[in-house]
Amino acid sequence: MNKQNNLRQLGNSDLMVTPIGLGTWQFSKRKNLAGRYWPMISDEESYSIVEAAWQNGINWFDTAEMYGNGESERTLARALQAGNIEDSHAVVATKWMPIFRTAGSIKKTIGKRQETLDGYTISLHQVHNPMSFASIAAQMKAMAGLVKEGKIRHVGVSNFSAAQMRKASRELEKYGIRLASNQVHYNMVNRKIEYNGILEAARELNVAIIAYSPLAQGILTGKYHDAPESIRTQQGFRKRFGSFKEKGLERTRPLVDKLREVAENHQATAAQVALNWLTNRHDGTVFAIPGASNTQQAVSNAQSMKLQLTGEDMEILNQASAELQK
Ligand SMILES: NC(=O)c1ccc[n+]([C@@H]2O[C@H](COP(=O)([O-])OP(=O)(O)OC[C@H]3O[C@@H](n4cnc5c(N)ncnc54)[C@H](OP(=O)(O)O)[C@@H]3O)[C@@H](O)[C@H]2O)c1
Repeated sequence: MNKQNNLRQLGNSDLMVTPIGLGTWQFSKRKNLAGRYWPMISDEESYSIVEAAWQNGINWFDTAEMYGNGESERTLARALQAGNIEDSHAVVATKWMPIFRTAGSIKKTIGKRQETLDGYTISLHQVHNPMSFASIAAQMKAMAGLVKEGKIRHVGVSNFSAAQMRKASRELEKYGIRLASNQVHYNMVNRKIEYNGILEAARELNVAIIAYSPLAQGILTGKYHDAPESIRTQQGFRKRFGSFKEKGLERTRPLVDKLREVAENHQATAAQVALNWLTNRHDGTVFAIPGASNTQQAVSNAQSMKLQLTGEDMEILNQASAELQK
């Protein structure tokens, strides 16, 4: 058993999870279009990342059908087995891929999800995004059916707007089920959910916000500010985005400088401060799932849970990050 601390209830579910989980899109092995977003990570490295996350207190793992067409799920399951991490202790969340599909595929594909996860319970099944041929009502009916059949424990959504989230919540309630979570883009560079009603609706409905890309895909670590050329030769699509180019990096540099200033007072890193800030601002509503491309990153991200930022730190960072929202 790992040394879990700070367990929090994930929204309306009965899942007790750490504020930080491990994102595993990085385990896709470049198998499909989504998988080619990241450089290749070997099986050995993936196993070591999962083990390090677990040993340093993380008790849950986020994956998806879309990540390498099941490759991330398969790798995660093998990594959990290699680390002797039992199903009864780990919490696994996955996602149904909705694009060009009807709600019937939620039921049709669940067997495959169970097969790729090789015995690990699907504690949270999420609709990956709202871009489906199926209505939200039909999707939630299918998800509720899986809960009733005992194939999944809880239902979440991802990339849903406030209105879509409210609709999903209402539909699930018809079956006596509460919506557990909405997984959305949220980090110190992108705080849109604070202004577009998503965070407000989540708090009102007691739906957990699961923040994806909490490190802005590496930007908030500061390493690409120090060595901008290091991303150019990497595999993957990330380098094509403006935020990784010179102008984008200049825009975020003042925030990274502030993160480093605060980090120094706590013998921490900018990334650790960014994760801690994100997960401690909204009375436990926000969880974060940083991905890792190596073991050291997983250790460091997990250890961010030990940090105790002061009220003053939180406010200094709030101001620096608010500058980027204009
Ligand atoms: N629901 C959705 O639509 C959706 C969308 C995106 C992501 N997600 C989920 O959210 C998870 C996290 O998001 P993300 O992977 O997009 O972004 P992220 O967690 O912000 O960034 C991950 C990347 O940052 C770098 N990194 C992480 N920790 C570091 C550290 N301590 N020091 C230095 N570099 C570090 C690594 O890349 P390098 O080492 O290569 O720089 C790593 O691959 C994904 O794995 C996935 O599970 C969901």
